[in-house]
Amino acid sequence: MSTPTGHDQAHDDQAHRGQTHHGHGTDHGDIDWEAMAAHLEREAELRVPFVEEAVAWLRGLLLEGGCGPGTASRLLDVGCGPGVFTVLLARGFPQAEVVAADGEPELLARVRDRAEREGVAANVTTRQAQLPDDLGELGSADLIWTSNVIHHLGDQQAALDALAQAVRPGGLLAVVERGLSPRCLPRDIGLGRPGLLSRVEAANEERFTAMREALAGHARVVEDWPAMLARAGLVPAGTRTFLTDLPAPLDTTARAHLHDRLSRARETLGEWLSPEDTSTLDTLLDDDDPQGVLRRPDAFYLTATTVHAGRA
Ligand SMILES: C[S@@+](CC[C@H](N)C(=O)[O-])C[C@H]1O[C@@H](n2cnc3c(N)ncnc32)[C@H](O)[C@@H]1O
Repeated sequence: MSTPTGHDQAHDDQAHRGQTHHGHGTDHGDIDWEAMAAHLEREAELRVPFVEEAVAWLRGLLLEGGCGPGTASRLLDVGCGPGVFTVLLARGFPQAEVVAADGEPELLARVRDRAEREGVAANVTTRQAQLPDDLGELGSADLIWTSNVIHHLGDQQAALDALAQAVRPGGLLAVVERGLSPRCLPRDIGLGRPGLLSRVEAANEERFTAMREALAGHARVVEDWPAMLARAGLVPAGTRTFLTDLPAPLDTTARAHLHDRLSRARETLGEWLSPEDTSTLDTLLDDDDPQGVLRRPDAFYLTATTVHAGRA
């Protein structure tokens, strides 16, 4: 299965329909953020193990930089979404204040609810911020985590430059972008032409490029994240890729996520997919069909997410 950005990002582009020349937030009322929020939350929950591993890695890197988990006092989660990862950061750095910033008040409310439920509310605060305009207003931090957000900003290098300014000496900027797109079905699924999901992935890349090109202030850059971090004035501290590997048979939650992703592909990739592939997607999305993704035994979820870290 494919996404435009490596992370489960088919939703990103769909979420941003109609707001391409504006900031994120109040000026894109066509987005059903409630529906999107639930999707973001479920997707992030599937990835909790990867983020736990990544946080452990970052804790080690901070120690090497002379800023241990016990001394890190302020963390930023920029573009935090519903806060699944914010809470994991708060757990990894129990002494620190974790500031979750996002353009969407509704998502920030979810962050607060989650922090309360998970017992870390005392450490988590939320901040509404429109990016890139508010990048300079977030304050400094020992660790800035930003997951699948930078690609929503027209000038990705400028965004990294601004974030790098906010990293305290010895601290880290950790950028999650790309990796390997999720896979969820065999090459030949016994329906339509084999290789459907590779074609969906290619279509998503086209749509992702179109999405980026329509962003305000779009600036094309070689997406070499370590080099971009270095250009922002940071010392590359490492790049690691983490697997999320849920083998078949999947549980109901993971299946629901796949159904959601394929639905979004069906809705948004029509112009790039053949009628045959569209029809195959319809069968995969049929809740009652034994060949549908909610029922077939061979559905799995496998993806790799890359984290790039730069040190101030
Ligand atoms: C794909 S979600 C990622 C959420 C979370 N970081 C994760 O990895 O699960 C992108 C998030 O960035 C936020 N976002 C995107 N563009 C933004 C902008 N220009 N200003 C503020 N927030 C933005 C969205 O509201 C959304 O919560």
